[in-house]
Amino acid sequence: MTDPVLVPGLAGIPAAKSSISFIDGTAGILAYRGHRIEVLAEHSNYEETCFLILEGRLPTASELETFRGELAARRGIEPAVVQTLSSLPKNGHPMNGLQVGLAALAMTQPKVDVKDPASVREAVLHLIAATPTLIATLERLRCGDDYLAPTEGSNSAEAFLYMLNGEAPSAIAERTLDCCFVLHAEHTMNASTFAARVVGSTESGPYTVASSAVGALYGPLHGGANERVLQALEAIGGAEQVEEWYAAKRDTGGKVMGFGHRVYKTKDPRAHTLQRLAGELFEAHGSTPLYDTALELEKAVVADLGDRGIHPNVDFFSGIVYQKLGIPTDAFTPIFALARMVGWLAHYEEQHQDNRLFRPAQIYTGVHDAPWVPIEERG
Ligand code: ACO
Repeated sequence: MTDPVLVPGLAGIPAAKSSISFIDGTAGILAYRGHRIEVLAEHSNYEETCFLILEGRLPTASELETFRGELAARRGIEPAVVQTLSSLPKNGHPMNGLQVGLAALAMTQPKVDVKDPASVREAVLHLIAATPTLIATLERLRCGDDYLAPTEGSNSAEAFLYMLNGEAPSAIAERTLDCCFVLHAEHTMNASTFAARVVGSTESGPYTVASSAVGALYGPLHGGANERVLQALEAIGGAEQVEEWYAAKRDTGGKVMGFGHRVYKTKDPRAHTLQRLAGELFEAHGSTPLYDTALELEKAVVADLGDRGIHPNVDFFSGIVYQKLGIPTDAFTPIFALARMVGWLAHYEEQHQDNRLFRPAQIYTGVHDAPWVPIEERG
């Protein structure tokens, strides 16, 4: 038998067969169920995209209306969940709060029968619908406001912004956030989706799967980069400072957040759309100096590292858009999580169509037959 070969980060190793989404990293193509992301961003909306991802096809008008109603009916959270969230330290990160909220949400529901697709689907809809409420509630409670029930909003973006700010959002804010949700809804076998599939393969329920995926997304090499991009743009202090800042960054060998991707070797197609959204927002509400800094930074990084396939990823422009929508910086990664919930759970359902427990091998690098030394004789 030949020794197994370690591939760090499992780069390029297929972990599952999936019909949910497709990426061509060289051509910069992303498609959900065969539909290109640019087309979905322009013509679809988050609820329709969720239906597409879960069902594998676009809904009819009446199916979409029913689906919207199913989500709206599941948006509220139980008083016990609100109470749990209100007991959390106010200065903690909302991604940790979200994991608590998802666990609490599970505890208010009947146990999911993971062998029963209808029982699983009920939990899937509940998670997609109620996660925006958890995130908005965490934010409200932290600011000293009370829980605001999701009574307003015909879609997730509108409901989320209403709960977050206590007032109906403008049409452009709602449409922009809705489009951001579409862009983030699914993305093949990334770290958090893999985490969801691994946890799902143990026959754990959807709430636990969602919480595990949130944990994986939180890391700065994954979804946590969006928050750090904005912090870096602020720290740079203006477009004219980019050159000096980037030279210093290069000297320390640090990575520039919002650049690079395991699969894309060109600019992330979602970054193009986010840039368009930013432009539309700026036209309506005025630009931000951070955008000019971002454009300069993109030029500097691509001039230096572009030939190594390092270009802006989805996290590079999303923070600029969210900031313009008045969303606090540490809510950026939770928003990514709420939009990605559908992708994680579609993979969970797909995993269960032909489940086999994930149990990879390792290459042991330790010693064998270590001698036992009684504790009193150890130096
Ligand atoms: N800035 C500077 N150099 C980079 C960057 C970056 N953002 N990304 C990769 N590199 C360099 C590395 O330093 C490394 O150089 P070396 O070969 O000289 O050591 C080389 O490119 C390969 O880097 P890896 O991290 O091994 O490449 P991988 O394919 O694993 O990277 C990753 C993907 C983790 C996303 C990486 O590009 C990165 O850390 N980017 C910054 C964090 C970020 O923006 N994450 C969000 C990704 S999108 C998402 O998850 C939603």
